[in-house]
Amino acid sequence: MEVLSVAAEAYPLIKTGGLADVVGALPAALAPHGVSMRVLVPGYPKVMAALSSGREVHGFDDFFGEEARLVAGRAGGLDVIAIDAPHLYDRPGNPYLGPDGKDWPDNWQRFAGLSYAAYEISRGRIEGYRPDILHCHDWQAGLVPAYARFNPGSTAKTVVTVHNIAFQGAFGWDVFNGLRLDYEAARSGAIEYFGGISFLKAGLMLADAVTTVSPTYAHEIRTADYGMGLEGLLQERAETVAGILNGIDTTEWNPATDPALVQPYTASTIAQRAANRAALEERFGLEPGEGPIFSVVSRLTWQKGLDMLPPRIDDLVAQGGRLVVLGSGEQWIEDAFAGAALRHPGKVGVMIGYDEKLSHLIQGGADAILIPSRFEPCGLTQLYGLRYGCIPVVSRVGGLADTVIDANEAAIEAGVGTGVVFSPATEVALAEAIRRTIALFARPKVWHKMQRRGMKSDVSWDLSAEKYADLYGSLLGHTRDDDSDD
Ligand code: ADP
Ligand code: GLC
Repeated sequence: MEVLSVAAEAYPLIKTGGLADVVGALPAALAPHGVSMRVLVPGYPKVMAALSSGREVHGFDDFFGEEARLVAGRAGGLDVIAIDAPHLYDRPGNPYLGPDGKDWPDNWQRFAGLSYAAYEISRGRIEGYRPDILHCHDWQAGLVPAYARFNPGSTAKTVVTVHNIAFQGAFGWDVFNGLRLDYEAARSGAIEYFGGISFLKAGLMLADAVTTVSPTYAHEIRTADYGMGLEGLLQERAETVAGILNGIDTTEWNPATDPALVQPYTASTIAQRAANRAALEERFGLEPGEGPIFSVVSRLTWQKGLDMLPPRIDDLVAQGGRLVVLGSGEQWIEDAFAGAALRHPGKVGVMIGYDEKLSHLIQGGADAILIPSRFEPCGLTQLYGLRYGCIPVVSRVGGLADTVIDANEAAIEAGVGTGVVFSPATEVALAEAIRRTIALFARPKVWHKMQRRGMKSDVSWDLSAEKYADLYGSLLGHTRDDDSDD
């Protein structure tokens, strides 16, 4: 099976969040299931630099106004096809935002371009390559099913995966003529959304299959509380909507071999973790202490509930806890964390920014990771936490609910708890979860068992990769027997 994965980011080429991790991990996870996956990404400067030995496989004379090329090659362990269209993508920094921190005004065209290129590839623009399936991630690839349906020449099946329904690619009708989409798409109503256009809605409406990144989120987005206006459509398509839980790349995230740690360790040598903890204390200027080191590695946004944490920090410190924060996002949340660090020198350390390597040291050295999200399609940092013995403290939503088992007394007794789960996602419930975590940490036997249990739990792609492979197969009319005969 040839699958083209279409996305705005892919680790290690370009990453702003979990989407990149997933897109970067899927090809290797799917290979053992007979799926050959290439990744189509915009040719941002970092991508083009990584593909310096790539070769041109197609040229467009007029790609949304100027010439462009498709460049294919191996980069970062992936089979990449990049759209080298400098007028759209040759811009430094964040893939979505200009230097003023706002969306690039032509994002509609930049990501229509991504989708259009996928469609062009599916109708044979690259000699010798015709993907059977176009796997489209988030709104940036949402128009792929629209091009494949309404413009001529594509027979590929389409899968749309929702990583976050809050981002819908909504624009005014004035952009329609610039999309190069057959007028029938406008008439069909498939792309219309509250008087304008939504790329994501088009994808959800027209894809052969829709998936999202956890079973709980698959239910949540069919409700008004979480569907963000798209719940009605998802209810209508309920039969084609599946929740397939994200895994993590267990080679990239392996405490036994991780070069970002000062001391590797495994579930049976967990005491050696102490060296990483000491390195983390030093890195963040923390004084030694008895209580747990809590951590945050996140976008600092309302979705992540991280506005609820700063008001609880005085309390956390008063109970003997310490805190390290790595993240960036909304200014007022950044300022609130910076203020807490000033109030509590030696107890609270804050780094505003993005640092992939430091994020590994935090998972390998902190005692707990706080994820108080208001909604969370899947979440990956709790999975990294489980794998690294960094106890996840999470709200009971989306993928967090599906991956962490609350260590209440019954669960401790039954030997199943892997973290602290609280509900609802409010400041009061978060404060109580912090208190419970500190109390659990004071019971070293219980704590170490939780750590080891988490480290041994299966957070790999194994199960979910099989589900994607089965889904692709079913769209192509294969049965399991066909596959085993190949
Ligand atoms: P989301 O994609 O919604 O931001 P996820 O939990 O799915 O949330 O994925 C976030 C990814 O980004 C994880 O790999 C996490 O380690 C990483 N990350 C988030 N913020 C930072 C940061 N400031 N520095 C380094 N890595 C970060
Ligand atoms: C989105 C979601 C996050 C998920 C990630 C990868 O960024 O916010 O919950 O883990 O996509 O699917």
